[in-house]
Amino acid sequence: MTTNLYERHGATALITLDHSPVNSLGHALRQRIVAALDAADADAAVRAIVLSGKNKAFCAGADVSEFGTALQLAEPILRTLLARVEDCSKPVVAALSGVALGGGLELALACHGRVALDTAQLGLPEILLGLIPGSGGTQRLPRLTGMETALALIQSGQPQTGHQLAASGLLDQVVTEGLVEAACTLANELAGRGEPLPRTRDRQLDASTSRTLLAAQREQLTPRQQLQPAYAAVLDALEAASGAFEEGLQRERELFLQLQGSTQAKALRYQFFAEREASKLPAALQAAPRPLQTVAVIGAGTMGAGITICALDAGLNVILLEQDAAALQRGRQRVIDHYQSRVSAGKLKAIKAAAYEARLSPSTDWTQLGRADLVIEAVFEELAVKQEVFRKIDLHARAGAVLATNTSYLDVDAIANATSRPQDVLGLHFFSPANVMKLLEVVRGSRTSLDVLATGMALGKTLRKLPVLTGNAFGFIGNRIYNAYRKQCEFMLEDGAWPEEVDAALQALGFAMGPFAVADLSGLDIAWRMRKAQAASRDPRERYVAILDQLCEQGRLGRKSGAGYYSHEGGKQVRTTDAVVRAIIEQASQQRGITRRTLSATEIQRRALLAMVNEAALLLREGVASRASDIDVVLVQGYGFPRWEGGPVFWARQQDRAALEQELQTLAREAGHGFMLADLSLLLD
Ligand code: NAI
Repeated sequence: MTTNLYERHGATALITLDHSPVNSLGHALRQRIVAALDAADADAAVRAIVLSGKNKAFCAGADVSEFGTALQLAEPILRTLLARVEDCSKPVVAALSGVALGGGLELALACHGRVALDTAQLGLPEILLGLIPGSGGTQRLPRLTGMETALALIQSGQPQTGHQLAASGLLDQVVTEGLVEAACTLANELAGRGEPLPRTRDRQLDASTSRTLLAAQREQLTPRQQLQPAYAAVLDALEAASGAFEEGLQRERELFLQLQGSTQAKALRYQFFAEREASKLPAALQAAPRPLQTVAVIGAGTMGAGITICALDAGLNVILLEQDAAALQRGRQRVIDHYQSRVSAGKLKAIKAAAYEARLSPSTDWTQLGRADLVIEAVFEELAVKQEVFRKIDLHARAGAVLATNTSYLDVDAIANATSRPQDVLGLHFFSPANVMKLLEVVRGSRTSLDVLATGMALGKTLRKLPVLTGNAFGFIGNRIYNAYRKQCEFMLEDGAWPEEVDAALQALGFAMGPFAVADLSGLDIAWRMRKAQAASRDPRERYVAILDQLCEQGRLGRKSGAGYYSHEGGKQVRTTDAVVRAIIEQASQQRGITRRTLSATEIQRRALLAMVNEAALLLREGVASRASDIDVVLVQGYGFPRWEGGPVFWARQQDRAALEQELQTLAREAGHGFMLADLSLLLD
């Protein structure tokens, strides 16, 4: 029998969550579930109830489109719905398939039983938005799984599969098929027991074990977690779970509300939406992408191998080309080694690795290019070399193939013009390691056609990356801002700070690493080579800090040579800089006529951030970035900018405008000739 609220199978009422695409708990759905529960509870022909999801998902949680609207708070809110489930006089069992995330999993926790498909993804991702679960998740989950599993799920924000959670206590049963039938059987069995229904809230946790575990966790929070109040709040909320249920719920609520109003949660929410926005081309640039199945990657070095891996992972065929057999063999081996190490670590089945490798065609024969829908060049970062490679690509690639360069800084137009088809050329700037980093800058040359641009953005999605559109300017968005930031940090060395002070101040702000530690890790010679190439065109009046060049002249190229800004012993960075480096820095100050002074951590942080904000405003005015929020996505995803600070633009918008402008003027004065002071109006208004 079917009512408009539930379907009846024998004595079981089947309530289906059906809010496309992933059954998020919008107001209308919440209302419908409560009405269905009321009706099923009152229906004498119903003994048991099953909640399941349509569209191959149980429920992905709150409806993000209701964030900040009155509907989000309109009754029945999620907590009311959960109480209704829990207090139902007939057993309610959740049938979990696809995803059960956030509020979706909280709904399942309030049921009297849970059956899941082994492939279902179950998780509480609230921490990724600077929050804790707010509808009983922190109270019910540990009552089912114990503290350790609950903590792991809530603190990581990452889902686990039904298979992984089979023995956790969260699930009554895990099945590979027949999900709804299994849930119906369990619900009827509960109904037939003649016992009070098993309510999660009625379970008790051992308070002293929980306290010991949570206290140990509190000690282990990483510095970056300590900067984000949600991590301590998770522990506070879980601590309350060993007391009375209602009090625990209230504690969870208080903590949730405090977090919801925090700047960090605002920043994380902003990043979430900024990322969704970034992968869409502005309306005026939209076009249908060209189809892609086979990619040719030229150059099998660090980047070429990484790009190959992510294309193979995404199901594409890859032709990997090198200049000679030895280099090709090295590159091929990198790819094979990657898959073998994943197999050894138990993360990939050998049969899958073999399937990936079967789609790889290594070659030194350039006529193979004729088979490619897309060619990605990742050879040495030298214009003449790249132009030569593009002339060859032009000879062999088929008409209509998309041609891309992975250059970090070079002029995409100068590369495109080496071909007879600049309209087919664009930049695809991957980040290292290319198979891990999500950011992809999609660079539009002056003649790139719109369908080529759309293909670049679509490729980003195929590769499960975050594509961001950028104009063709030196360093595009990311490296251009990073250069301005690094330059400012070098000024601070001349002004009186040591590299470790700059690095520590920026790490204290939440950067994964400071700029000098990053430089040592990636090698100073890359920047050195670029500086030498630019030397002839550099204006002598510009404030130029030569510390890096002098380090390189002494053979200090960074970690790979055992020393750079820091010494590295056995691959580990020594914490403080040594006398040689300090002498070079002191001499640089002296030559500029600067009396060295101590810079506070706050001054270091603000100057670094201001330099980024200034450059961001210039990029936006020049049209290199098409949206201010794209800049924040690039910095957070590609450069270790703390996500919970939102990015430089978000940060600037939290500051007092007049103070910001005044500080920027000081920055400009101290930087001297050549510093372009930006107008902040486009960025902030
Ligand atoms: P790499 O030195 O590791 O690899 C370059 C490869 O290109 C070498 O295997 C070389 O044999 C090959 N090659 C050179 N000339 C060739 C030619 N004419 N034909 C075929 N193969 C040729 O360099 P890496 O680091 O992979 O960089 C490649 C490109 O990616 C550069 O443009 C670089 O700026 C860019 N890039 C590098 C990043 C990094 O972190 N390493 C990040 C983003 C972009």
